[in-house]
This record gives sequence, C-alpha cells and structure tokens, in this order.
Amino acid sequence: MKINLAGIRQEYTKGGLRESELPDNPLLLFDRWLQEAIDAKVNEPTAVIVSTVSADGKPSTRTVLLKGLSDGKFIFYTNYDSRKGKQLAHNPFISLSFVWHELERQVHIEGKATKVSPKESDEYFRQRPYKSRIGARISPQSQPIANRMQLMRRFVQEAARWVGREAERPENWGGYAVTPTRIEFWQGRPNRLHDRFLYTLEPKGNWEISRLAP
Ligand SMILES: Cc1cc2nc3c(=O)[nH]c(=O)nc-3n(C[C@H](O)[C@H](O)[C@H](O)COP(=O)(O)O)c2cc1C
Repeated sequence: MKINLAGIRQEYTKGGLRESELPDNPLLLFDRWLQEAIDAKVNEPTAVIVSTVSADGKPSTRTVLLKGLSDGKFIFYTNYDSRKGKQLAHNPFISLSFVWHELERQVHIEGKATKVSPKESDEYFRQRPYKSRIGARISPQSQPIANRMQLMRRFVQEAARWVGREAERPENWGGYAVTPTRIEFWQGRPNRLHDRFLYTLEPKGNWEISRLAP
C-alpha cells in the first residue's frame, strides 16, 4: 500500500470525562453526549454501528440510525428478514457503537434486542417520507437481486398501487428496542491516556461504575 497509514496520527485534546460529572444513570450522560453531537453538527449524529452474532457464533456489523430512546431503551428500525433480523431471531444479544469523531468520543452499548410493538412500528412508519415507505415495502433487504433496474421497476409498480393512500407498513419491517446491560463512555485524551468509564447493570437494577484503562 502506498499510503503511509502509520503516519496518520492525531492527538485527542477536545476534553476529558471526570468521575465527578458521571450521573448514577448512564442514560442521562448518553442523552447529554447525543445532544452535544447534534449541537456540534457532526455528520449523522444518530448513526450507530450494530453488531449481531450468527447462529454459529460469527459476528457481523452494519450502521443504522437511532430513532428513539424511551424507557431506557435504544430503538432502531429495519427489515426483520434482513441478515441482522435473522441473527437477532436466533440470538437477541447485540452491541451498539456510537462514534462521534468530531468530539473524540465513542459510546459502546451491550444488551438484548426485542421487537417493538406493531403499533409503535406503525407510528414510526407513518412518519417516514412517502418514498422511504415504498422503498421499505419493495426491498428484500440483504437478499441478492438481479440489478438496479429490477429494484426501480418494483418501486414504480408499488408506488402506483398506493397512489392517494397511506402505504402500509409491511409486517417484516419494524423496530428493535435494545435494553442495555453495559454502557461504556470513551473520551479521547492526549498521549492515548483516554478516559473510559464503564456502567454495568447490577441485579438490583442500579448501575455500577468503573474506570477502565485506555
Ligand atoms: C448512515 C447509515 C444509516 C443507515 N440506517 C439504516 C437503518 O436505520 N435501518 C436499516 O435497516 N439500514 C440502515 N442502513 C443500511 C445498513 O447499514 C445495512 O446495509 C442494512 O440494514 C442491511 O444490513 P444486514 O444485511 O446486515 O441486515 C444505514 C446505512 C448507513 C451507512
């Protein structure tokens, strides 16, 4: 490779995370960091890397958009028949990683995913732009397709079927709510001596906090 990858190096100097500013509930800190990412106008502040594991224990990863945070659960929407959907049906354990490079921050979340109620998925589906709703109806997400033309043809045909009507949510499309059991906050610091704080959910329902070595 011609690029000098070893020479690409940056010091992280934007800030620190002090023990004294950690709330008992990690979701309060997550809320604050997400809001700060939005205020800083980072690109796609709600983008989150989702990792799932196949039935034979092999991990896979992709990006989705966080669409809700309610009752302490992280919500995203996708196709239930997609690769991730099939993996979650087998094994609901999941990890989510938010990376806000502009703020030199990342948050890793581990937990269990469950489908949100059909009513909740319907409510979100109705808020999506019309063409995104049609797209969700016609895309057999994660399946091989012959070519782009096939996709476009399906899109046009499906759009014609719903002229003047609300396109309904297909049954195989909806939300997952992730209930976290472990949340780690990482703030870059100079000399690679970053701040890392891990929240672990205890059986009594409280969160235990520990500082991890960078
Ligand atoms: C910025 C970004 C946002 C995305 N948001 C979503 C999303 O909210 N839901 C979704 O199903 N796919 C989303 N995708 C596409 C996924 O990364 C992925 O290609 C798709 O879900 C199929 O993944 P799978 O085959 O591993 O199931 C997004 C991709 C990017 C780059």
